[in-house]
Amino acid sequence: MSELNLGRTEFGKKENAGNVMTRMEVIALLDDWIKNERLRLHVRQVGNLMNCWAKEKEGLDEAESWKWEMAGLLHDADWDQWPEQHCKKIIEELESRNVDPEIIRAIASHGPAHFGVEPVSRMDQMLYAFDELSGLIHAYSLMRPEGYLGMEMKGVLKRLKEKSFAANVSRDDIRDAASRAGITVEDLVRFIIAHQTA
Ligand SMILES: [Fe+2]
Ligand SMILES: [Fe+2]
Repeated sequence: MSELNLGRTEFGKKENAGNVMTRMEVIALLDDWIKNERLRLHVRQVGNLMNCWAKEKEGLDEAESWKWEMAGLLHDADWDQWPEQHCKKIIEELESRNVDPEIIRAIASHGPAHFGVEPVSRMDQMLYAFDELSGLIHAYSLMRPEGYLGMEMKGVLKRLKEKSFAANVSRDDIRDAASRAGITVEDLVRFIIAHQTA
């Protein structure tokens, strides 16, 4: 069993449904907890992808999309300073702030192999699906002179197959996440390239 296994599958309280933090509160927490520039960029990218997906593909309104974005922004908030407590620490923080359990659960399930929590809701599934894949695509953008500009699917797929490239990005997680979400890796790549903000 992974050392990061959370040992539970229930998060937050039902009566907190609909409770969100403001964007300013989220940014203050991230500023406080994440010092690593690259990780800051990663959580912003995943947050943006979650928001765009919620609006464009799920047809959700501004308030619902913000919940998705919050899950993306906060999913790795504790990774910089407390890697040995990754996920546990941010979950406890959000529980103490009475945040909507849907958001906490999505964060808890962003790595089922690590945290032992299955992604169930659409929000859970998409956070898991965007996490590692967007990291690999970002690593690819850094080695291209033009960054994301003109990036093509086939280049990304080639890097995916190349195990030595961004070797810390789990290809198994990427495949598993896409299949659970019922979306092809190609479609996910297309969406990520089209919605990058860097
Ligand atoms: Fe993580
Ligand atoms: Fe992440």
